[in-house]
Parts: sequence; C-alpha cells; structure tokens
Amino acid sequence: MGSSRIRIMSIVGARPNMMKIAPLMAELRLDRDVEPILVHTGQHYDYSMSQVFFDQLRMPQPDFNLGVGSGKHHEQTAEIMRRFGELVESHRPDMVVVAGDVNSTVACALVAARESIPVAHVEAGLRSFDRSMPEELNRILTDRLADLLFTTEESAHLHLADEGIAPEKVFFVGNLMIDSLVAALRQPRELSLRSELELQPRTYAVLTLHRPANVDDPLHLAATLDAVARLAKRLPVIFPAHPRTAAIIGAAGLSAVRAWRGGPIDEPALWMMPPASYLDFLDLMQHAELVMTDSGGVQEETTYLGVPCLTYRNNTERPVTVSEGTNQVVGCDPDRLLNMAFNVIGKRRPARTVPPLWDGRAAGRIVPILKGSCERNLDREAERVPF
Ligand code: UD1
Repeated sequence: MGSSRIRIMSIVGARPNMMKIAPLMAELRLDRDVEPILVHTGQHYDYSMSQVFFDQLRMPQPDFNLGVGSGKHHEQTAEIMRRFGELVESHRPDMVVVAGDVNSTVACALVAARESIPVAHVEAGLRSFDRSMPEELNRILTDRLADLLFTTEESAHLHLADEGIAPEKVFFVGNLMIDSLVAALRQPRELSLRSELELQPRTYAVLTLHRPANVDDPLHLAATLDAVARLAKRLPVIFPAHPRTAAIIGAAGLSAVRAWRGGPIDEPALWMMPPASYLDFLDLMQHAELVMTDSGGVQEETTYLGVPCLTYRNNTERPVTVSEGTNQVVGCDPDRLLNMAFNVIGKRRPARTVPPLWDGRAAGRIVPILKGSCERNLDREAERVPF
C-alpha cells in the first residue's frame, strides 16, 4: 500500500441515517490510515430533521452537501444520483458507505457501483416483503449492489442467502443505531422536552406517524388520530409530527389533535408538536408507558430501552424486535391499535432482553472490515500497474 490514506465516503440523507453514520464517522476519525469524508445529500434539510442531529450526535459538518431537497421519489432519487455522480467523478473515494433504506441510500449506491467504487451497506438484509414500500425496493437494490453487507440481526442472513448474495460479503456486526443510543444515554442532560412538559415516567404515551400508507389518505389518518385521541383521554399522548404528517393534518383540518404551544402538559389529550430532537425523543421514549409508531428505527430503540412498542403497520422488516424485544405488529386498523394499547398500559413489563451484538460497539467491528477490504482492493490495483 502507498502512503496516502484510505478515503472512505459515508452518506447521510434523511433523519434515520444520522444516528447510524455518526458513530461510524467517530470511529473512522480515530484511524490515522483513513480519511473519512461525509456527504449529506440534503434529502432532509429542516433544522429539526437534520442539523439538530449533527449537533447532538457530535457529528462533523458534512464535507459536501448536495442540497437535493424534497420531491417525488423518482425525481429525488434521480437528482441525488445526478449530483452525487458529479461529486464522485471529481473526488473518487476508495469506498462508499450507505446506511438503511432511504432514497439517498440506493441513489448513492448505484452511482458508486456504476463508477466501480466498492459499496458498503449498513443495515443490510432487512426485508418487509412489502414492495409497496419504497424502502423495500431501496433495500433490495442496495444489497444487490453492495460489496460489503453489514447486518443487525439474524433474519438478514437468511434473506441475503435466499437472494443469492455470497455469504463472504455479509458480516453480522450489530446495530450502529444502538451505538448512538448507548452513547446518548451516557450524556447527562439537565433540561429536556420531557422536563418542559413536566411528564413523570410512565404517565404518557408517544406516537409517531409518517409512512405514506398511514398519512397520505386524510380519512385513514383521521380515523387513526380519533382512535389515539380516545386513548389520550386516559393517558396523554405526545405526538412529535413529521413535517409531511403535520402538513396533511393542517390541510385536512383534523381536529383530534391539540397543538402544543409550549409549557407543561396539563390535560390528557393527543398533543401534536414539532419533530423532537434526537436526545429529547430518546428521553421521551425511555420513560413512556407505551410507544406507537410506523417507523423502523423506533421499533429497535424501544426494544433496546425495554419499552412496549405497537407498530402500526402490516409487517416489520425487523423481526428480532418482536421475537426478542418489546415490539408488536398491530396492522393498520385504528380499532385494533386502540385495543392493543389498552391491553398494554398499566401492565407489568417482562424482563428486558437485548438482541445479540446490540451493545454499542458495532462501529468498532465495522471499521476493520472496511479498512481490510479497501487495502486488499488497493493492493490488487497496485499489482495491475505494470511498473
Ligand atoms: C424518508 C424515508 C423514510 C424514513 C423517513 C424518516 C425514503 C423513501 N423515505 O421519508 O424511509 O423513514 O425519511 O423521516 O427515503 N420534509 C420537510 N422537511 C424536511 C424533510 C422533509 O418538510 O427536512 C417534508 C417535505 O414536504 C417532503 C416530505 O416531508 O416532501 C417527505 O420527505 P422525504 O424525504 O421525501 O420522505 P420522508 O417521508 O421523510
């Protein structure tokens, strides 16, 4: 190998990428042989959807921000590819690392693969088997393109083997998102959103909703929120709303939610508020009686925290959160969600179990594999040079 450092380019685009890439960047930065490069596609761009995560996760500012912004799926994906393609032509890294299943993940993986730059996929092999979700297509395609596949749970290995992915490319490393969570739990904080809301542990529930299947149809969304509002008469429900969800609630004038305007929660109701920061949201989840969500990451975080989670979807690509964790998949039926919620609240919780390798040390397992792979590629290239 020559004297120059290995250039590893990691991609973030949307909110759930941040907590996966932050611990990896921190680990890469410790390694003198590596030059870590961070690219933000700009898929998420609001302060509360992006910058606040950089701040709280102590992530360096991106070296490049492609500023793509929102758009239809195909337009957004194409625009990320166009802009990332230009970047990669001028700054050829030795490896591109993508995480999760968002449009930025597949767009950057495809560009890198086309440019013969090796791709590593963090959180590979998860499958919901529901191709109506854009994320499912993003996962399948990214795994197909990847040279290194890092998995968080056993099920991923079965899916990748079924799809004919060579097992020597696949590494069970644990969960980078849990690395961030473990680090966050160690950060002492005096003030939090929960302290402003004056919510005592296990006296409230948390709701998040952002999947198109749950929020794009105002009738379905209204029925869901009406059901949750019935639960909220007994237990206040804190609802930090994703911008797309908030916009639909506003446009449809849905009345089940109460808009929070600051200060303590003084009434049991369904309280809608702006997206919470990473640390505020973890703190809210950690002390909640119940979490209801259609997110992927929240299913894993509640499992780690030992907090009951009802997943408002027909499937999960994270089955370990059901088999070993606190998650139950309830489908997309408002009445069923309400019944299940009433079944959960006020009950004794089983002892907490944490899935294998969700120990806060995934980044330390990934970096040597990335480095080793880059070094072998560079050696191979050097052998090809005739003199
Ligand atoms: C994306 C991911 C989804 C992930 C979610 C987490 C894809 C296909 N979807 O969905 O897997 O669970 O992020 O949040 O990549 N918006 C803002 N400000 C922002 C970002 C978005 O107002 O900073 C609004 C825009 O109106 C935008 C809409 O939210 O059109 C949707 O954003 P987009 O990034 O397209 O998808 P998400 O629903 O956030």
